[in-house]
Amino acid sequence: MKRGRSRPFHGADSPKSFKSSMGIPWKMMILCGSTSKSLAQDLSLVMGAEFVQATTKRFPDGEAYVRIERQAMDKEVVLVQNTYPDQNLVELLLLLDAARGLGADKITCVIPYFGYARQDRRFNPGEALSAKVMLRHLEMEMDRLLTIDLHKPDVLEWFARAPAKDLKAAPAIGEFFSSAGIDLVLGPDAGAATRARETAKVIGCESDHLLKTRISGTEVRISPSQVDARGRTVLIVDDIISTGGTIVAATNELKRLGAKKVYASCTHGLFTGGAISKLKGVCDRVVSTNTLESEVSEISLAKVVAQAL
Ligand code: R5P
Repeated sequence: MKRGRSRPFHGADSPKSFKSSMGIPWKMMILCGSTSKSLAQDLSLVMGAEFVQATTKRFPDGEAYVRIERQAMDKEVVLVQNTYPDQNLVELLLLLDAARGLGADKITCVIPYFGYARQDRRFNPGEALSAKVMLRHLEMEMDRLLTIDLHKPDVLEWFARAPAKDLKAAPAIGEFFSSAGIDLVLGPDAGAATRARETAKVIGCESDHLLKTRISGTEVRISPSQVDARGRTVLIVDDIISTGGTIVAATNELKRLGAKKVYASCTHGLFTGGAISKLKGVCDRVVSTNTLESEVSEISLAKVVAQAL
Protein backbone atom coordinates (compact mmCIF):
# COMPACT_ATOMS: atom_id res chain seq x y z
CA MET A 1 0.00 0.00 0.00
CA LYS A 2 1.39 3.34 -1.05
CA ARG A 3 0.95 6.01 1.57
CA GLY A 4 2.22 8.83 -0.62
CA ARG A 5 3.15 11.33 2.09
CA SER A 6 4.89 13.58 -0.38
CA ARG A 7 1.66 14.30 -2.27
CA PRO A 8 -0.45 17.33 -1.34
CA PHE A 9 -3.40 16.14 0.70
CA HIS A 10 -6.06 18.16 -1.09
CA GLY A 11 -4.21 18.69 -4.33
CA ALA A 12 -5.51 17.97 -7.81
CA ASP A 13 -4.41 14.33 -7.54
CA SER A 14 -5.87 13.78 -4.08
CA PRO A 15 -8.26 10.84 -3.67
CA LYS A 16 -11.03 13.34 -2.93
CA SER A 17 -10.61 15.19 -6.23
CA PHE A 18 -10.24 11.94 -8.10
CA LYS A 19 -13.44 10.44 -6.73
CA SER A 20 -15.37 13.68 -7.28
CA SER A 21 -14.18 13.90 -10.88
CA MET A 22 -15.34 10.32 -11.45
CA GLY A 23 -18.75 11.12 -9.95
CA ILE A 24 -18.08 8.81 -7.02
CA PRO A 25 -19.29 10.28 -3.71
CA TRP A 26 -16.34 11.01 -1.43
CA LYS A 27 -16.52 9.27 1.91
CA MET A 28 -14.67 10.16 5.03
CA MET A 29 -14.76 8.17 8.22
CA ILE A 30 -14.29 9.72 11.65
CA LEU A 31 -12.68 7.21 13.98
CA CYS A 32 -12.08 7.45 17.70
CA GLY A 33 -10.97 5.17 20.48
CA SER A 34 -11.71 5.69 24.14
CA THR A 35 -10.91 9.43 24.15
CA SER A 36 -12.37 12.46 22.39
CA LYS A 37 -15.71 10.81 21.65
CA SER A 38 -17.72 14.03 21.94
CA LEU A 39 -15.44 15.93 19.55
CA ALA A 40 -15.32 13.02 17.09
CA GLN A 41 -19.11 12.66 17.12
CA ASP A 42 -19.65 16.39 16.66
CA LEU A 43 -17.13 16.36 13.82
CA SER A 44 -18.95 13.54 12.04
CA LEU A 45 -22.21 15.54 12.27
CA VAL A 46 -20.62 18.76 11.01
CA MET A 47 -18.93 16.94 8.11
CA GLY A 48 -21.71 14.49 7.35
CA ALA A 49 -19.14 11.72 7.75
CA GLU A 50 -19.54 8.27 9.19
CA PHE A 51 -18.61 7.95 12.89
CA VAL A 52 -16.87 4.81 14.10
CA GLN A 53 -15.81 4.16 17.67
CA ALA A 54 -13.32 1.35 17.99
CA THR A 55 -13.69 -1.24 20.71
CA THR A 56 -11.00 -0.65 23.30
CA LYS A 57 -10.16 -2.89 26.22
CA ARG A 58 -7.35 -3.70 28.59
CA PHE A 59 -5.93 -7.16 29.02
CA PRO A 60 -5.66 -8.41 32.60
CA ASP A 61 -1.98 -7.35 32.61
CA GLY A 62 -2.96 -3.81 31.61
CA GLU A 63 -1.92 -3.94 27.94
CA ALA A 64 -4.22 -2.19 25.48
CA TYR A 65 -6.45 -3.92 22.92
CA VAL A 66 -8.24 -2.16 20.07
CA ARG A 67 -10.49 -3.44 17.33
CA ILE A 68 -12.29 -1.54 14.59
CA GLU A 69 -15.32 -3.71 14.00
CA ARG A 70 -15.53 -3.24 10.22
CA GLN A 71 -14.73 -5.38 7.22
CA ALA A 72 -12.76 -2.66 5.44
CA MET A 73 -11.83 1.03 5.58
CA ASP A 74 -10.90 1.80 2.02
CA LYS A 75 -11.32 5.55 2.32
CA GLU A 76 -9.97 8.63 4.02
CA VAL A 77 -9.90 8.30 7.78
CA VAL A 78 -9.78 11.03 10.38
CA LEU A 79 -8.62 9.60 13.68
CA VAL A 80 -9.43 11.75 16.70
CA GLN A 81 -7.40 10.70 19.71
CA ASN A 82 -5.51 12.36 22.53
CA THR A 83 -2.00 11.33 23.51
CA TYR A 84 -2.76 12.00 27.18
CA PRO A 85 -2.59 10.27 29.56
CA ASP A 86 0.14 7.83 28.46
CA GLN A 87 -2.16 4.88 27.78
CA ASN A 88 -3.94 6.91 25.09
CA LEU A 89 -0.67 7.31 23.22
CA VAL A 90 -0.43 3.51 23.00
CA GLU A 91 -4.08 3.35 21.94
CA LEU A 92 -3.39 5.90 19.19
CA LEU A 93 -0.55 3.78 17.76
CA LEU A 94 -2.73 0.67 17.81
CA LEU A 95 -5.67 2.48 16.19
CA LEU A 96 -3.43 3.73 13.39
CA ASP A 97 -2.28 0.20 12.70
CA ALA A 98 -5.79 -1.24 12.93
CA ALA A 99 -7.06 1.34 10.41
CA ARG A 100 -4.15 0.65 8.03
CA GLY A 101 -4.82 -3.07 8.39
CA LEU A 102 -8.37 -2.50 7.14
CA GLY A 103 -7.08 -0.59 4.11
CA ALA A 104 -7.17 3.04 5.24
CA ASP A 105 -5.20 4.95 2.64
CA LYS A 106 -4.90 8.44 4.09
CA ILE A 107 -5.06 9.00 7.81
CA THR A 108 -5.35 12.48 9.23
CA CYS A 109 -4.76 12.40 12.92
CA VAL A 110 -6.48 15.01 15.07
CA ILE A 111 -4.78 15.13 18.45
CA PRO A 112 -6.97 17.55 20.40
CA TYR A 113 -4.73 17.58 23.48
CA PHE A 114 -1.15 16.71 22.65
CA GLY A 115 0.47 15.34 25.79
CA TYR A 116 4.12 16.20 26.47
CA ALA A 117 3.97 19.40 24.37
CA ARG A 118 4.98 21.52 27.38
CA GLN A 119 8.40 19.84 27.72
CA ASP A 120 9.57 21.66 24.58
CA ARG A 121 13.16 22.18 25.71
CA ARG A 122 15.68 20.73 28.09
CA PHE A 123 15.02 22.95 31.09
CA ASN A 124 17.74 21.11 33.07
CA PRO A 125 20.71 19.03 31.87
CA GLY A 126 19.84 15.38 31.50
CA GLU A 127 16.14 15.90 30.80
CA ALA A 128 14.36 14.36 27.79
CA LEU A 129 13.09 16.68 25.07
CA SER A 130 9.65 15.09 25.33
CA ALA A 131 7.76 17.10 22.68
CA LYS A 132 10.37 16.23 20.06
CA VAL A 133 10.39 12.55 21.03
CA MET A 134 6.62 12.30 20.61
CA LEU A 135 6.45 14.19 17.32
CA ARG A 136 9.40 12.39 15.75
CA HIS A 137 7.84 8.99 16.48
CA LEU A 138 4.32 9.94 15.44
CA GLU A 139 5.36 11.47 12.11
CA MET A 140 6.23 7.95 10.92
CA GLU A 141 2.66 6.80 11.34
CA MET A 142 0.25 9.37 9.88
CA ASP A 143 -0.36 11.33 6.69
CA ARG A 144 -1.36 14.59 8.29
CA LEU A 145 -1.53 15.96 11.81
CA LEU A 146 -3.88 18.54 13.28
CA THR A 147 -3.34 19.73 16.84
CA ILE A 148 -5.16 22.39 18.82
CA ASP A 149 -3.58 25.20 20.85
CA LEU A 150 -0.21 23.61 21.40
CA HIS A 151 1.61 25.32 24.23
CA LYS A 152 4.16 26.42 21.61
CA PRO A 153 3.10 25.65 18.01
CA ASP A 154 6.75 25.91 16.91
CA VAL A 155 7.27 22.36 18.16
CA LEU A 156 5.54 21.15 14.97
CA GLU A 157 8.88 21.76 13.24
CA TRP A 158 9.78 18.36 14.68
CA PHE A 159 6.93 16.80 12.70
CA ALA A 160 8.61 17.17 9.34
CA ARG A 161 7.58 14.24 7.14
CA ALA A 162 3.92 15.16 6.63
CA PRO A 163 1.73 18.27 6.76
CA ALA A 164 0.94 19.46 10.27
CA LYS A 165 -1.07 22.40 11.55
CA ASP A 166 -1.97 23.78 14.94
CA LEU A 167 -5.55 25.11 15.14
CA LYS A 168 -6.77 27.91 17.37
CA ALA A 169 -9.66 27.61 19.80
CA ALA A 170 -9.91 31.39 20.42
CA PRO A 171 -12.61 32.04 17.77
CA ALA A 172 -14.85 29.28 19.18
CA ILE A 173 -14.32 30.48 22.75
CA GLY A 174 -15.07 34.06 21.68
CA GLU A 175 -18.22 32.95 19.89
CA PHE A 176 -19.37 31.00 22.95
CA PHE A 177 -19.05 34.07 25.17
CA SER A 178 -20.23 36.60 22.58
CA SER A 179 -23.54 37.31 24.30
CA ALA A 180 -22.33 36.91 27.89
CA GLY A 181 -21.77 40.62 28.53
CA ILE A 182 -17.96 40.39 28.63
CA ASP A 183 -16.24 43.78 28.99
CA LEU A 184 -12.64 42.60 29.04
CA VAL A 185 -10.76 39.46 28.00
CA LEU A 186 -7.64 38.80 30.00
CA GLY A 187 -4.65 36.51 29.59
CA PRO A 188 -3.24 35.44 32.97
CA ASP A 189 0.30 35.95 31.67
CA ALA A 190 2.14 37.56 28.77
CA GLY A 191 2.11 34.25 26.88
CA ALA A 192 -1.69 34.38 26.76
CA ALA A 193 -1.91 37.97 25.47
CA THR A 194 -2.41 36.98 21.81
CA ARG A 195 -5.07 34.44 22.76
CA ALA A 196 -6.87 37.12 24.79
CA ARG A 197 -6.68 39.57 21.89
CA GLU A 198 -8.05 37.03 19.39
CA THR A 199 -10.90 36.07 21.71
CA ALA A 200 -11.75 39.71 22.44
CA LYS A 201 -11.86 40.47 18.72
CA VAL A 202 -14.66 37.94 18.25
CA ILE A 203 -16.56 39.23 21.30
CA GLY A 204 -15.94 42.87 20.35
CA CYS A 205 -14.34 44.07 23.58
CA GLU A 206 -10.94 45.04 24.99
CA SER A 207 -8.15 42.68 26.00
CA ASP A 208 -5.21 42.84 28.37
CA HIS A 209 -2.95 40.50 30.32
CA LEU A 210 -1.53 40.03 33.79
CA LEU A 211 2.02 39.17 34.79
CA LYS A 212 2.60 35.73 36.30
CA THR A 213 5.58 34.18 38.02
CA ARG A 214 5.57 30.41 38.51
CA ILE A 215 6.93 29.47 41.91
CA SER A 216 6.38 25.70 41.72
CA GLY A 217 4.25 23.17 39.84
CA THR A 218 1.26 24.10 41.97
CA GLU A 219 2.00 27.69 42.98
CA VAL A 220 1.99 30.90 40.96
CA ARG A 221 2.17 34.57 41.86
CA ILE A 222 0.28 37.22 39.90
CA SER A 223 1.92 40.65 40.19
CA PRO A 224 -0.24 43.53 41.37
CA SER A 225 -1.75 44.95 38.19
CA GLN A 226 -3.00 48.24 36.76
CA VAL A 227 -5.58 46.43 34.57
CA ASP A 228 -8.88 48.33 34.38
CA ALA A 229 -11.23 45.71 35.88
CA ARG A 230 -13.36 47.85 38.21
CA GLY A 231 -17.07 47.07 37.81
CA ARG A 232 -16.42 44.98 34.70
CA THR A 233 -17.20 41.42 33.67
CA VAL A 234 -13.87 39.80 32.84
CA LEU A 235 -13.20 36.60 30.89
CA ILE A 236 -9.83 34.95 31.58
CA VAL A 237 -8.55 32.76 28.73
CA ASP A 238 -5.69 30.29 29.03
CA ASP A 239 -4.49 27.38 26.94
CA ILE A 240 -4.43 24.91 29.82
CA ILE A 241 -5.96 24.74 33.25
CA SER A 242 -4.17 22.09 35.27
CA THR A 243 -4.17 22.61 39.03
CA GLY A 244 -6.18 25.81 38.64
CA GLY A 245 -3.51 27.76 40.55
CA THR A 246 -3.06 30.29 37.73
CA ILE A 247 -6.77 31.05 37.39
CA VAL A 248 -7.32 31.25 41.15
CA ALA A 249 -4.45 33.74 41.55
CA ALA A 250 -5.63 35.78 38.52
CA THR A 251 -9.24 35.81 39.77
CA ASN A 252 -8.15 36.96 43.23
CA GLU A 253 -6.21 39.82 41.65
CA LEU A 254 -9.19 40.79 39.47
CA LYS A 255 -11.53 40.74 42.47
CA ARG A 256 -9.03 42.93 44.35
CA LEU A 257 -9.18 45.33 41.42
CA GLY A 258 -12.98 45.46 41.74
CA ALA A 259 -14.13 43.17 38.90
CA LYS A 260 -17.90 42.59 38.94
CA LYS A 261 -17.76 39.05 37.56
CA VAL A 262 -14.88 36.76 36.57
CA TYR A 263 -15.38 33.95 34.05
CA ALA A 264 -12.58 31.46 33.38
CA SER A 265 -12.06 29.53 30.18
CA CYS A 266 -9.40 27.33 28.65
CA THR A 267 -8.83 25.15 25.65
CA HIS A 268 -7.52 22.12 27.51
CA GLY A 269 -9.12 21.37 30.86
CA LEU A 270 -6.81 18.95 32.61
CA PHE A 271 -8.36 19.90 35.96
CA THR A 272 -6.04 17.92 38.21
CA GLY A 273 -6.60 17.42 41.93
CA GLY A 274 -10.16 18.75 42.24
CA ALA A 275 -9.42 21.91 40.26
CA ILE A 276 -13.00 22.36 39.03
CA SER A 277 -14.51 22.69 42.50
CA LYS A 278 -11.61 24.94 43.57
CA LEU A 279 -12.27 27.19 40.56
CA LYS A 280 -16.02 27.21 41.05
CA GLY A 281 -15.33 28.55 44.54
CA VAL A 282 -13.75 31.72 43.16
CA CYS A 283 -14.96 32.20 39.56
CA ASP A 284 -18.48 32.99 38.43
CA ARG A 285 -18.21 30.48 35.59
CA VAL A 286 -15.66 27.90 34.39
CA VAL A 287 -15.80 26.55 30.82
CA SER A 288 -13.42 24.55 28.64
CA THR A 289 -13.49 23.19 25.11
CA ASN A 290 -14.02 19.49 24.44
CA THR A 291 -10.39 18.63 23.65
CA LEU A 292 -10.58 16.94 27.03
CA GLU A 293 -13.99 15.90 28.29
CA SER A 294 -15.24 17.00 31.70
CA GLU A 295 -18.35 18.40 33.36
CA VAL A 296 -17.40 21.89 32.04
CA SER A 297 -16.29 21.03 28.47
CA GLU A 298 -19.15 22.99 26.91
CA ILE A 299 -17.42 24.41 23.83
CA SER A 300 -17.18 22.05 20.88
CA LEU A 301 -14.28 22.59 18.50
CA ALA A 302 -15.82 20.42 15.78
CA LYS A 303 -16.34 23.36 13.41
CA VAL A 304 -12.74 24.54 13.89
CA VAL A 305 -11.45 21.06 13.01
CA ALA A 306 -13.94 20.64 10.15
CA GLN A 307 -12.75 23.88 8.56
CA ALA A 308 -9.15 22.67 8.67
CA LEU A 309 -10.10 19.33 7.12
C1 R5P B 1 1.38 27.88 31.46
O1 R5P B 1 2.14 28.67 30.90
C2 R5P B 1 0.03 27.59 30.89
O2 R5P B 1 -0.30 28.52 29.91
C3 R5P B 1 -1.04 27.55 31.95
O3 R5P B 1 -1.18 28.84 32.50
C4 R5P B 1 -0.71 26.56 33.03
O4 R5P B 1 -0.45 25.30 32.49
C5 R5P B 1 -1.84 26.47 34.04
O5 R5P B 1 -1.50 25.58 35.05
P1 R5P B 1 -2.21 25.63 36.45
O6 R5P B 1 -3.70 25.50 36.22
O7 R5P B 1 -1.64 24.45 37.19
O8 R5P B 1 -1.83 26.92 37.11
